[in-house]
Parts: sequence; C-alpha cells; structure tokens
Amino acid sequence: MSKSIAYEELLNEVKSFIQDENDKIACMANVAALIHERLGFWWTGFYRVIGEELVLGPFQGPVACTRIRKGRGVCGTSWNEARTVIVPNVHEFPGHIACSSLSNSEIVVPIFDECGNVTGVLDIDSRDFDTFDETDAEWLEKICRLIRI
Ligand code: SME
Repeated sequence: MSKSIAYEELLNEVKSFIQDENDKIACMANVAALIHERLGFWWTGFYRVIGEELVLGPFQGPVACTRIRKGRGVCGTSWNEARTVIVPNVHEFPGHIACSSLSNSEIVVPIFDECGNVTGVLDIDSRDFDTFDETDAEWLEKICRLIRI
C-alpha cells in the first residue's frame, strides 16, 4: 500500500474517532494510538504548550522527557518556528533531545489554535534513518488541523 493511501485511510479513521468526542485528552490519546499502530512508528505523541514549555501529553511508545523549553530540540524548534521539522538523522540535529537511544529520525508537526498560535506539537520518532518526507508532512499536517489542544 502506498504511503498516501495508508494516510488517507488513517485520516478517515482519525475523523471518525474524534468527531463526536469533545474531550481533548481523549482525542489526542486515540490519535496517537491510531498513528502509532497503523504506521508502525517507534514513538508517537503530543506535547502541549504550557507557559514557556512543552509538556508531555498522550503518547505511545517508550517513556519520554516530560518538559521541553521553547527553541530546544526538534520539538522546541518546531514550536519556535511554527513549522513542521523533518529530521532524517537525529544525531546530526544540533540540540536534539534523545529520549530513546533507538530513535534515528523524527518529524514534528505544530498544532495551531484558531488564531494561529502554536498550542502543541505532534512528535513522531522512527528507529530507521530518513523515514519522513513531504508526504508524511502533508498528511500529518492534515491530521493536526483536526486536533484542538
Ligand atoms: N527528540 C525530541 C524530544 C522528544 S522525544 O523524541 C519523544 C526533540 O528533540 O525535541
């Protein structure tokens, strides 16, 4: 199955899981589980903007760092620059925060409120190098537009 078809199915599943649920934590929890299970990543989860930090939210995978300051690591960079960050090799990303020594590539997608402020990020790690490309970014951004934090 092509990546786009897998993501199209995933997007429909995400819609059906969150459309009748207004609890944000419940929605984030199921979206993390859906992405993780369907696409087989190493770590999939959310960080929420709380004050000057990102704080760990619902996730699937190994334990992770709980707080990330703005501008730090891949997540803090995505928040600071309000853009999706694709990292083909995390060991070459200056300031990368290694929550798992088995993670080798990563994508972080910002989540916005109605005013365009970043309210959190979706972070996905892979054990393979160079896992994520513009197709992942495009579809994960579509999913993140459905998420409210
Ligand atoms: N690697 C991330 C930290 C979060 S973990 O990957 C779950 C970063 O550099 O921001």
